[in-house]
Amino acid sequence: MNTNQINSAAAHDGPLDNLDEWEHDVLNRYPDPAAINKEKKEEEFRNYEETVKDGVKEFYRLNHTYQTYDFVMQKKADYLKFDKKEMPIWKAFDFLNELVDDSDPDTDLDQMQHLLQTSEAIRNDGHPDWMVLVGLIHDMGKVLCLFGEPQWAVVGDTFPVGCAYSDKIVFPEFFSQNPDFNNEIYQSKLGIYTENCGLDQVHMSWGHDEYVYHMMKDYIPEPGLYMLRYHSFYAQHREHAYDHLMNEKDHELFKWVNLFNPYDLYSKNPNQKSWEELKPYYEALVSKYLPATLKF
Ligand SMILES: [Fe+2]
Ligand SMILES: [Fe+2]
Repeated sequence: MNTNQINSAAAHDGPLDNLDEWEHDVLNRYPDPAAINKEKKEEEFRNYEETVKDGVKEFYRLNHTYQTYDFVMQKKADYLKFDKKEMPIWKAFDFLNELVDDSDPDTDLDQMQHLLQTSEAIRNDGHPDWMVLVGLIHDMGKVLCLFGEPQWAVVGDTFPVGCAYSDKIVFPEFFSQNPDFNNEIYQSKLGIYTENCGLDQVHMSWGHDEYVYHMMKDYIPEPGLYMLRYHSFYAQHREHAYDHLMNEKDHELFKWVNLFNPYDLYSKNPNQKSWEELKPYYEALVSKYLPATLKF
């Protein structure tokens, strides 16, 4: 088996056809308000749970069953040592692009294209350059898949562990299979936390968000770190289900998370400039904020 075969096997370690399938599903759940008016009738977007694909549903079942408090602790202890690999960010993007599945007609974009469309939309709207950088790197944590992590431990909506699951999380019924569901302390409203303790005290389910946040902690302004760390925390930034764990600073900084989310979900641009054209700008941006190599 060559490396490519191994990597493509890793990307398929789960019920999703590819990692993007989860993002397509999020888009079904939270459709672009502009698209509702223009391209599709509103009823096409209703009945989310009836239209969700079996593979996607199975993905959420696995995610909700296996993301326990102990699992999160183990993954943090392992990955936050950053002793797996050291490489320039450009190498990491190549690595990430190996996640593309050529045989799947639904995968119209490679990972790099999604990142560039997000960052270019942010740049075109005149936001600060560090936010453009956040757009470029926000999904870089998906390299976890290439380190052998299953899909349910890389992508998916994130949620706090060690406290009660909100019924605002997608498919909340699947949490009944999680061992933490029978732990009285973990399933009280505040769990192991205290009221309004602040999200920095709270452990989130493990995935590409938490991983890239820690990787970038020393380099990017705090609003950008919030975007990285909580961009898949839909139960909060869309549903406001965890206000009881947030402090005032979190509420303030979640304004930035809310600003970022539509760029992640809705910035498909068919007339995207080529990488060759964009390269000089992004090389300068990356070297302004990041070291020559990153530790994974
Ligand atoms: Fe993401
Ligand atoms: Fe994304």
